[in-house]
Amino acid sequence: MNSNEPGVTLSIDGVVATVLLDRPDVRNAQHPAMWAAIASFLESLPEEVRVVVVRGAGGTFSAGLDLSLVDPGQTDVDGSLVATLGRSDQEVVDLIGEYQRPFVALADPRFISIAVVDGYAIGAGFQMALACDLRIMAEDAWVCMKEPALGLVPDLAGTKPLVEAVGYARALEICATARKVGAAEAERIGLAQSVVPAVDLDVTLSGLVSSLVAHDATAVRRTHELLSAASSRSLDEQRLAERTAQVDRLRAVLGR
Ligand code: CAA
Repeated sequence: MNSNEPGVTLSIDGVVATVLLDRPDVRNAQHPAMWAAIASFLESLPEEVRVVVVRGAGGTFSAGLDLSLVDPGQTDVDGSLVATLGRSDQEVVDLIGEYQRPFVALADPRFISIAVVDGYAIGAGFQMALACDLRIMAEDAWVCMKEPALGLVPDLAGTKPLVEAVGYARALEICATARKVGAAEAERIGLAQSVVPAVDLDVTLSGLVSSLVAHDATAVRRTHELLSAASSRSLDEQRLAERTAQVDRLRAVLGR
């Protein structure tokens, strides 16, 4: 299955679904129609999909929000954020909530999401990479939380995974300075799980996907659920969740 939505190509091949940010002429800059298409795709993935890969066309992950959307001179652009300012605060809050949908959907423990970052992932691009469970980076790639440099805040569900990946102090330093974080540092501080030469990204991805789908799908999903919920639970709540999940697994595995 393969579909071309506005600026994004969505495909499913067996157990792997791919979201290709596909506007290479503007470095895969993102806009609301792309987010809506990605959200609908992720929210309706068939049960057999176990891995979702997010990558960018043309040697770049994503240059972030399409800057025409915040250009006061282009309020006629579809999705213009400047044009939304006539709405009430609550309406804008709700609208951004809609924009956050794909970023939330990428964290669904039904599948393991992998961002393949080459070139750069800036702003909304960095937040999309952060929304994924795992990140593979090319060794010359970099990420940047550019929003504060534009007078804005990161608002696409990226602040929580950033803090969880690198800790509060490093997350604050990365955001407040809006500096570029190179791949070597990203790996060292826990943002990237693998860093390889750009030419090796495909083979690295393929090896990782094979390893991730090698074991029982339900066992991996239940483990994924436990790990992704761990930071928001107390130890007692987490222990209970482990025991409860294990009863189901024991019945399934030993009762065969
Ligand atoms: N939006 C729209 N168009 C963009 C774009 C963006 N974010 N980033 C790049 N482009 C366009 C450029 O305008 C240029 O178009 P033309 O060929 O028509 O001139 C084309 O893509 C190629 O760009 P460059 O020539 O600049 O390419 P480069 O490789 O030299 O530099 C870059 C690439 C470092 C990404 C640079 O283009 C850049 O800094 N872009 C802006 C990045 C940015 O500020 N993004 C927004 C971050 S904030 C956010 O995402 C979320 C938020 O605010 C809430």
